[in-house]
Amino acid sequence: MRRGKFITFEGLDGAGKSTHIEGTVALLRRLGHTVVSTREPGGTPLGERLRALLLHEPMHLETETLLMFAARREHLARVIEPALARGDWVVCDRFTDATFAYQGGGRQLDTDKIRQLGDWVHPHLVPDLTLLFDLSYETARARIDQTRELDRFEQEQASFHERVRAEYLRIAVAEPQRMHVIDAAQSVELIKKTVEQTVLTLC
Ligand code: TYD
Repeated sequence: MRRGKFITFEGLDGAGKSTHIEGTVALLRRLGHTVVSTREPGGTPLGERLRALLLHEPMHLETETLLMFAARREHLARVIEPALARGDWVVCDRFTDATFAYQGGGRQLDTDKIRQLGDWVHPHLVPDLTLLFDLSYETARARIDQTRELDRFEQEQASFHERVRAEYLRIAVAEPQRMHVIDAAQSVELIKKTVEQTVLTLC
């Protein structure tokens, strides 16, 4: 059985990933692939409970990072690894790049610690493709519905989100084969086209 492909979506909150995740899943299904669409933190019953804590409960930065990886370990063991082994494709809303960007960039945790946790939790797994939805903080912020309750990350100030963005872009420069930067300020139609073309290179 040929292993499936692992595609991840990343970017600031409000960058517009969700619409294009749905489009990508639909495209892959039209092409005949079995697709598992999932998200982090979350993707399992335990992971979703950890997500609720991570998004709303104040905690130490290292606790936050360890819980992100605890949720990820569960997600890999119960969802991602079995799906890829069956030959299914996995489309995931955020993965370890988000820990580098938010906990490393945003919260300024030593990225060596994140690297060590990544080596422990998924020593052999790197996404086949990562789509980074890049957008200025001001534009992303304007797209977030301010009338709903904002989570702990969305409540952070501009400088936090600017560091998150910079860390994502640093990864994109370091790993240009894997991470494709998409200008998320473009129209939905243009972005859709770019996403489709990029995803089709894997097929
Ligand atoms: P997301 O699912 O994009 O939120 P929403 O449902 O509002 O679109 O992500 C939830 C938040 O978790 C997001 O602000 C980024 C944060 N996050 C981290 O800080 N580190 C991580 O490793 C992951 C996976 C997410």
